[in-house]
Amino acid sequence: MSRTGLLEVRQVSKFYDIPGHPRLQALADASLTVEPGAFISIVGPSGCGKSTLLRLILGLDSDYRGEILLHGERIHGANLKRGIVFQDHRLLPWLTLEQNIALALENAPQAPEAKARAVREHVEIVGLSSFEKAWPHQLSGGMAQRAAIARGLVNQPEILLLDEPLGALDALTRIRLQEELQRIWRAEGVSMILVTHDVEEAIFLSNRVIVMSGNPGRVLEEIPIELPLPRDRASHAFGEIRRYIFKAMGMRAEALPIAA
Ligand SMILES: Nc1ncnc2c1ncn2[C@@H]1O[C@H](COP(=O)(O)OP(=O)(O)OP(=O)(O)O)[C@@H](O)[C@H]1O
Ligand SMILES: [Mg+2]
Repeated sequence: MSRTGLLEVRQVSKFYDIPGHPRLQALADASLTVEPGAFISIVGPSGCGKSTLLRLILGLDSDYRGEILLHGERIHGANLKRGIVFQDHRLLPWLTLEQNIALALENAPQAPEAKARAVREHVEIVGLSSFEKAWPHQLSGGMAQRAAIARGLVNQPEILLLDEPLGALDALTRIRLQEELQRIWRAEGVSMILVTHDVEEAIFLSNRVIVMSGNPGRVLEEIPIELPLPRDRASHAFGEIRRYIFKAMGMRAEALPIAA
């Protein structure tokens, strides 16, 4: 069962004023819908406004045109209902792993014992039990990203926003964490919006892949992925979707990666 609500991004445009630079339009009439409990990925060229869109959904910036609605209500300000994980883990080096995760609960209403229990549970969900007292520098890159995912989930958000969370990891760790992420998504019933440059990762994980184009950022196409879970990256159907998405992103056939 999903505990989350419908997220609707309606015709959102975003402009930035950069000194000495003409007014920059980062998003142009971007719309998308995230059904409760869905996993949506966003792919598109660098600078097409993916992180901008996540920041608006997070509620950190209300200076935009259009509407962003959760449960039919306009998003106002950051809220514990929406969590985020970035490409760099952003763990504070002077806090242990469990203290870093507990920090996300600072403004939550629970009693201290309930918070400690939530931290323990989430450390376990991401497979880091026994590393609770470790310092960030004692964790590998993959472990630190797991910790960041636990921190993003510890408030039991309705939506977890993931901005290239696995982007800095080696290929093997990345595949392992994609499987972890899928398991967590299925177990937690949380909606997830993943920004990634890895088309395969997007197909492996998502109910739907959103392809954006840049200058200014627009939603070009939405591709439903209906392959059963868990998905076989080597299957013909997977390869077909991969090829289709690369083409939608404007790649010429001869420029596609070999496996495509
Ligand atoms: N705080 C900001 N102030 C001014 N301009 C910004 C700001 N944040 C982003 N931009 C501009 O908005 C555009 C979109 O940036 P954004 O970071 O959303 O792209 P992106 O799709 O996430 O790119 P990448 O894939 O490289 O992470 C870029 O041209 C960028 O220069
Ligand atoms: Mg970005």
